[in-house]
Amino acid sequence: MKILFIGMGYVGTTMAVVLANAGHEVTGLDVDNDKISSLQKGELYFHEPGLQTMLMTQLQNKNLTFTSDPKEAVETNDVLFITVGTPSQQDGNADLTYVKKAAQMIGSFINKTKTVIVKSTVPIGSTEKIGEWIHEASQGRFAVNMVMNPEFLREGSAVQDALNPDRIVIGSTNTAGLDDMKTIYKSWDCPIVQTTTRTAEMIKYSSNAFLATKISFMNEIARLCDQLQVNVRDVSKGVGLDHRIGSAFLHAGLGYGGSCFPKDVKELLWTADAYQNPLQILKEVETVNQTQPDYFLGKVREKYPSLAGKKVTLLGLAFKPDTDDTRESVSFPIMKQLTDEKAQVIVHDPIVQLSPSWLAQGVIQHSDPYEAVKGADVIIICTNWPQYEELDWKKVTGLVRHRFIFDGRNMLDAQEMKRLNFYYTGIGYS
Ligand code: UDX
Ligand code: UDX
Repeated sequence: MKILFIGMGYVGTTMAVVLANAGHEVTGLDVDNDKISSLQKGELYFHEPGLQTMLMTQLQNKNLTFTSDPKEAVETNDVLFITVGTPSQQDGNADLTYVKKAAQMIGSFINKTKTVIVKSTVPIGSTEKIGEWIHEASQGRFAVNMVMNPEFLREGSAVQDALNPDRIVIGSTNTAGLDDMKTIYKSWDCPIVQTTTRTAEMIKYSSNAFLATKISFMNEIARLCDQLQVNVRDVSKGVGLDHRIGSAFLHAGLGYGGSCFPKDVKELLWTADAYQNPLQILKEVETVNQTQPDYFLGKVREKYPSLAGKKVTLLGLAFKPDTDDTRESVSFPIMKQLTDEKAQVIVHDPIVQLSPSWLAQGVIQHSDPYEAVKGADVIIICTNWPQYEELDWKKVTGLVRHRFIFDGRNMLDAQEMKRLNFYYTGIGYS
């Protein structure tokens, strides 16, 4: 089956490589020529474990090609996946500009009936709209089989998530489209949920909204744990072992970031408001997430009422470990707060490089974490990179000026840190 992916971002690239690996003939298309030329050379332009090797293998097998030519790409493929971004607008509603462009491009070059699969996360009802946009652009010359097939790929484990999904959701009532989906996923052995396009769209939003809810719920409990001298890590463990609840996404800390949760929560809230059916729980989920960094910085201020002139080492810039993605990463608002307060900020991240604009503001980045903590008055952990757990913290005691650790991811062993005479606190954990 000849498959085209329109949009070579995190999701499009991962799925294109994984479907090529499953034996399909896959082409990747993007408006960004730099991305296409680096992918053509087998160079992955972002960090995703396991993807680089698979990309190389599939290029060599000739199962995978990349192009910047939309006409040829649309004409020569049978199944077209849309994987362009759907960022939030000011009001929270998802911006469908790129999806619309992709639809119009398909409509203007379509040369026979094709299956179009929407994998971008789109508001409820959008897949129908996308079908109409294609129809308008093609002036109805060819029928299109519309399918909504949401992605559930976590950055950092996207390849494993794509190879071993908990389920595949297929939203379509079109027989030819459903047949194509069976062929595409024939080597997958997992539950398939077949629904309408609208239901598939809602499954995607509800999944991310629910996961975000688990995180904010635990973060709120963590704040209470702080007051009651309760260990939230143990609470998460004790609660999560109940199989009705599950242990995933109960890790308290600085809250959720990334390209999906913040955007998808905002979009669902926007839709609910537009239908005068506000989602009260989800509103609070967002509020807890937005206020968590301030709550955490409040703990720093208890120890240092003024951070002016203090040397603060911030560990971790990525929104989560094993990715170089910094979209909605909490590290940046925290860094801004610290620089506004005239602290001297030193950062470290295993793979993310700070942009020149931050460096111009006096923030210093070190590639060696031990260099980064030299002379520090305070260490703040923003991303739970395993490297930080593995640091020789005894060695760190000899490098810092003052032994203060504020662990925004509750990742270090509090007892061990106290044994090393650090003042140590996480959130709901100390
Ligand atoms: C994807 C989804 O599409 C999004 O809706 C979902 O919620 C998260 O996953 P992601 O892969 O993170 O988004 O997007 P991004 O990394 O921004 O990549 C989008 C790609 O589409 C970019 O490479 C961009 O250059 C490309 N693009 C954009 C096009 O090819 N055509 C366009 O018109 C616009
Ligand atoms: C998410 C979805 O999980 C995935 O299915 C897809 O829809 C894309 O969006 P992603 O954003 O890549 O994946 O990573 P995820 O592992 O979900 O983490 C999101 C954020 O939540 C991160 O900032 C992470 O640090 C935070 N998180 C996660 C917690 O704070 N606590 C947890 O217990 C789990």
